[in-house]
Amino acid sequence: MSNLAESIKPHAVLIPYPLQGHINPMFKLTKLLHLRGFYITFVNTEYNHKRLLKSKGVTVLDGFTDFSFETIPDGLTSIDGDDDDVTQDLHSLRDSVRSNLIQPFRELLDRLYDSATCGLIPPVTCLVSDSFMSFAIQVAEELSLPIVLLYTCSACTFLSGLHFRTMIEKGLIPLKDESYLTNGYLDTKVDWIPGLRNFRLKDLSSFIRTTDPNDLMLEFINEAVERFHRASAIVINTSDELESDVMNALYSMFRSLYTIGPFASFLNQSPQNQLSSFDSNLWKEDTKCLEWLGSKEMASVVYVNFGSITIMSEEKLLDFAWGLANSKKPFLWIIRPDLVIGGSVVLSSEFTDEISDRGLIVSWCPQEKVLNHPSIGGFLTHCGWNSTTESICAGVPMLCWPFFGDQPTDCRFICNEWEIGIEIDTNVKREEVEKLVNELMVGEKGKKMRKKAMELKKKAEEDTRPGGRSYMNLDKVIKEVLLKQN
Ligand code: UDX
Repeated sequence: MSNLAESIKPHAVLIPYPLQGHINPMFKLTKLLHLRGFYITFVNTEYNHKRLLKSKGVTVLDGFTDFSFETIPDGLTSIDGDDDDVTQDLHSLRDSVRSNLIQPFRELLDRLYDSATCGLIPPVTCLVSDSFMSFAIQVAEELSLPIVLLYTCSACTFLSGLHFRTMIEKGLIPLKDESYLTNGYLDTKVDWIPGLRNFRLKDLSSFIRTTDPNDLMLEFINEAVERFHRASAIVINTSDELESDVMNALYSMFRSLYTIGPFASFLNQSPQNQLSSFDSNLWKEDTKCLEWLGSKEMASVVYVNFGSITIMSEEKLLDFAWGLANSKKPFLWIIRPDLVIGGSVVLSSEFTDEISDRGLIVSWCPQEKVLNHPSIGGFLTHCGWNSTTESICAGVPMLCWPFFGDQPTDCRFICNEWEIGIEIDTNVKREEVEKLVNELMVGEKGKKMRKKAMELKKKAEEDTRPGGRSYMNLDKVIKEVLLKQN
C-alpha cells in the first residue's frame, strides 16, 4: 500500500459457499463493490483456488489493484494431485462447511488484521458472506464488524426455505415413505405461505423430498435460516420486478433486505476494469465455440448446458443427444467430463457423423458470452438460478429440465410466472426433446416466449442502471450497512 488515499479505502472480505454456482454471483458482487471503491479480499477454499489457477493460468491473477485472493482449507480434500476438475461431494462439503471452516476463517482475519497493522492493507471494515456460510456471522459478531449475507438463489427459494421448519411441524415433511414421491402427494397445494401463488410441494426445493426425520440438508438449511436475523443485512441476486409478490412478503419479515440483481445485467452496464473482465469459472473455458457461433445465423442455435452439478444417466444423455440431432437445429452443448453418472461420456460415431455440420460439443464455455451471442435462439437448461437470470439478461427463452435443489422453483417461475420457458418431464424421451426443441426455436410458443424474455431483459436493465431499484438498493446497502462505523 503506497499512498494514504489507498490506505483509507473500506476493506470488504467476501466469502462464497465453495461451489461454482455460489462463487460466480459472489464474484459479481465483488466486482460491483470494487468498482465502488472497496479494497477486496476474496476468500476461496484451497481446493477451488487451485482449480481457478489451473483454469486461468497463475499469471492472470497478477496486477489486480485493491484486490487479493486468500484461501482457507476446506477440511476435506488434499490439494495435491491433478485429478481435481470435479465438483466436490455436496454432502461432505456441507458437513465440512458446518464444522471445519470457522476456525481457519478466524485465523485468516487475524492475519489480515496483522497486515493492516503493518500498513500493508487497509483494515477490514466489513464482511460479505454467502448466506449458507453463516458461521461468518459469528466471526463478524466477535470482531464487531457489519456483515451482509448474499443469498445467491431466487427470493422465492429464500421465502420457502423460511418455512421448512413449519412444514416439519405441520407434518408435511419429511415424507412418510418413498411412495409419496410418486403417489400424487407432491401435487399438494401450498396455499399457506403468503407470497406464493399456485405453488405445489413439487415446486419447492427438492430438499424437502426426503423421508429421513433427521435429514442433514434440511437441518443445515434450517440452521442457516435461523441465523439470518443476526446479519446486518441480506442481499438477493434478484429484482423486485422479477419476484414482486415474494419480495412484498419478505419485506414484511425482514427489516434490512435488499434486491440488488440481476447481477448479469448490472455488470453488463457497469464500467470495465481489469477485475471486471476476469471471471471466476473453475473449469477452463473453450472460447472457440464463440467463433463457431459466429458462423451461424441469428437466433438459430440451441444452447444446452446443465450447470456445474447436474448429473444424468447415460440413457438420458442419449435421449437429449438424439432429440437434439433429430430436431435438425444447430446446437452448442456443454458436456462436463463428470456429467454422466458412473463414467465418462462416449457418443457414437453414428451420432457425431449425424451432427457434424450443425452440432458442437465442448466441456465448459464462457456462458454469459454465449447467451449474449446473436446466434443463440434458445437455452436448454437445468434452471440453476445463475443460468436462469443470465438467460433473462440475454433475452433468451428456455427449455427447462430442473434437476435438484432450487431448480424446480426456478422452473415454475420461468414457465408459469414469466412464461419464457417450457418444462421438460424428468423422464423425457428423445421424441419429446425433438418436439420441444422445435417449439422453442421455430414454434409460435417459442416466438411469444422470446418476446417476453426480451421484455424481461429490458426491465432487468432498467432495474440495474443508475436510478433503478436494484442500483439504488446496492448504494443503500453500501452506505447504510457496509460503510457504517460500529
Ligand atoms: C448451483 C445450483 O445447482 C443452482 O440451482 C443454484 O441456484 C446455484 O448453485 P449450478 O447447478 O452450477 O449451481 O447452476 P447455475 O446456478 O446455473 O450456475 C452455473 C454458473 O456457471 C453460471 O454462472 C454459468 O454462467 C457458469 N457456467 C456454467 C459457465 O460459465 N460455463 C459453463 O459451461 C457452465
